[in-house]
Amino acid sequence: MARAPGAVWCRAMSRIFVARRLPGPAIDRLREAGHEVEVYPGELPPSRDELLAGVAEAEGLLSLLTDRVDGELMDAAPNLEAIANFAVGCDNIDLAAAAERGIPVGVAAHVLTDATADLTMALLLAASRNIVTSEHDAHAGRWKTWEPEGWLGRDLRGAQMLVVGRGRIGQAVAERAAPFGIEVTFAGRDDDLLALLPEADIVTLHCPLTDQTRHLIDTAALEAMKPDSLLINTTRGGVVDQAALIAALEAGTIGGAALDVTDPEPPAEGDPIFTAPNLLLVPHIGSATAATRAAMGNSAADNLLAALDGRPMPTPAPAPS
Ligand code: DGY
Repeated sequence: MARAPGAVWCRAMSRIFVARRLPGPAIDRLREAGHEVEVYPGELPPSRDELLAGVAEAEGLLSLLTDRVDGELMDAAPNLEAIANFAVGCDNIDLAAAAERGIPVGVAAHVLTDATADLTMALLLAASRNIVTSEHDAHAGRWKTWEPEGWLGRDLRGAQMLVVGRGRIGQAVAERAAPFGIEVTFAGRDDDLLALLPEADIVTLHCPLTDQTRHLIDTAALEAMKPDSLLINTTRGGVVDQAALIAALEAGTIGGAALDVTDPEPPAEGDPIFTAPNLLLVPHIGSATAATRAAMGNSAADNLLAALDGRPMPTPAPAPS
């Protein structure tokens, strides 16, 4: 179409459904760019029906890791032109279905590397030095004296850490571990994990959840680990066969686990994960700092604004495997 002299190109306003309230300026930025933004107001994620209704007219979707974004949803949103996930992980999105329909998908890459690596170290330190149990004991009147045999943990200097996943977060964990005197080895997708696990005192998971990594840590992997080893998971619960992990903890065939993620999330009431011994469990807080969550929102907004303007997303999701 020929541009009329003096005319200003102005992309039509798009409707954007945002699946939860978000911290930071992301939603204001989308509105300031002229888009009509509907924010799902609930504390909990939208139900499936609410999500389908929310996207029915939308050109843009800002989804969270708690939202299943699949072919059915895309078909229920015939105008959908762009999906931006408020997460670096995108296992909640059917990337192949999006690619088939020509819908670009963006992720909040780069911005949560440090926060997630920091939380990994926090879990490592807390689990290694019994911080949670000793804190509870101190408050509960079980601090009777200085105990030569009480609350004994593990030393970190000289410990062998196996970082599973060669991406940014794994590298950032390795950088933080080095000053503690921890010796780090990486396991990538082409490495023989079962051969590396028996050497590790600490195994920390930083690979994305894909068909290839689902239950990567299964019974065989847990059996290959040292009896006093610590498993840390800050990626996705599905990378670990949780029933096998609970069995290993109950049998004492590994030393302990520190989990930021479970499968499913949250675990149902009465799930045996809540009573497994030597387990430190936090509610998926890897990226939970105010600045990081604001940056994740900005990243999602950048992806939507670009795609709705016909430009490539700055941080697209990986190509479907
Ligand atoms: C992500 O972005 O994938 C994280 O799990 C969120 O904390």
